[in-house]
Amino acid sequence: MKAASKKKPVLHLARKAKPASARTGKPDPRLLDAEQFLLPTYKRQPVVMTHGRGACVFDSAGKKYLDFLAGIAVNALGHAHPRIVKVIRREAARAIHLSNLFHNAYQGPLARKLAGWSGMDRVFFSNSGTEAIDGAMKLARLFGRKSEEAPGTAAKKHRFLALENSFHGRTFGAVSVTSTEKYRLPFAPVVPGAEFVRFDDVADLEAKFDDTVCGILLETVQGEGGIYPVSEVFWNRARALATQHGALLIADEIQCGLGRTGRCFAYQKFSAKPDIVLIAKPLAAGLPLGAILTTEQVASRVSPGMHGTTFGGGPLACAVALEFLKTVEDEKLLENIRMRGEELRDGLMKLAAKFGFIREIRGEGLMIGVELSIEGAPFVSEAMQRSLLINCTHDFTLRLLPPFIITRAQVREFLRLFEVVLAATQQQASAPDSGKSAHPGRVAQAAAR
Ligand SMILES: Cc1ncc(COP(=O)(O)O)c(C=O)c1O
Repeated sequence: MKAASKKKPVLHLARKAKPASARTGKPDPRLLDAEQFLLPTYKRQPVVMTHGRGACVFDSAGKKYLDFLAGIAVNALGHAHPRIVKVIRREAARAIHLSNLFHNAYQGPLARKLAGWSGMDRVFFSNSGTEAIDGAMKLARLFGRKSEEAPGTAAKKHRFLALENSFHGRTFGAVSVTSTEKYRLPFAPVVPGAEFVRFDDVADLEAKFDDTVCGILLETVQGEGGIYPVSEVFWNRARALATQHGALLIADEIQCGLGRTGRCFAYQKFSAKPDIVLIAKPLAAGLPLGAILTTEQVASRVSPGMHGTTFGGGPLACAVALEFLKTVEDEKLLENIRMRGEELRDGLMKLAAKFGFIREIRGEGLMIGVELSIEGAPFVSEAMQRSLLINCTHDFTLRLLPPFIITRAQVREFLRLFEVVLAATQQQASAPDSGKSAHPGRVAQAAAR
């Protein structure tokens, strides 16, 4: 404690204006603590969020925001959903943690439910998306290893393919298959054997796929990269090549899965199934929980002690996840996602016709990207001023991820506010930068035409 109180603020942060309370204008001690003691990994908005109700969030000054970000696709049932609150209260008073040395009342039933939703056979519970990715990469290496290959040596089949513009997480495995260089290069050498395929480029996929590949990771809809769904042609070719070469097709559905696109999983629009499906974000309605879902064939290679976790699959998180999935079913939320998503896209298309700097509206269900020809960050700040939470990813794409419970009236309210934000911000926004704004896959495809 003593050592901590002597710490000096990080200098480059301390030079900035002191974060002040929006209500009193005085420095907010919580923001000062954050500035002094947190690792500077995020460019946070200078506001303390305190609580939420449904699709709205409130800050410490009492200001209410319409939440079209949902904690980056986590709070799918919004905030303080009565069914979730009830289960958390009940289970917190029973057992928060028991350890994976025993069974608990919810892990098995939750695994059964997820198998039903996904068509997979077996489940491993993790604590986060990135941990699920790393686990899947281990499974792919395990699956690719031949019994005659000596343990501890690099298996012949050890390479991973992933896509340009991908984002799979921050742990070493996940960051190795994440294409954005600023996330990966400072930590080199990363896990060896990863290579990036141009987005949706079948010829590049075919050129890079051979018998040394043990797994190909695809976000069925790229999220952080700016809401880009992979095409069916590409998906089917990846499936066929994985089967041909004995590699695993790994669907990263951490952001796009569990209902967000209006289907239980985004890959369910394709007829071919993956070998592994990864989920996290909304699974336990805001509590940390991720999962690896896989086939019996892959699971048959796993034996006790090969992989594990202390916290993953605890009774509280699993009870909440089970309630989350049942709520999606009982409240017919997939239907709501599809209908509200259509209304949202229709409204955005009308706005695109009005504002020339909107280049494209992309996405499925309640996962929508609004690509701009000008920088997106000022639109996010303006939206906050006007009580709206949205996000900008890859500099030029505004990302909309409202909760599954969003109502028709809230979609209308969003469109009204968003139009005001677009009009107010366009004056201040910077000039076009065509090189930066275009998706790398699209640039490659355009260049090849
Ligand atoms: C597609 C995708 N994969 C993996 C991750 C990593 O998940 P987590 O932040 O839970 O580790 C994310 C997080 O944004 C994601 O969007």
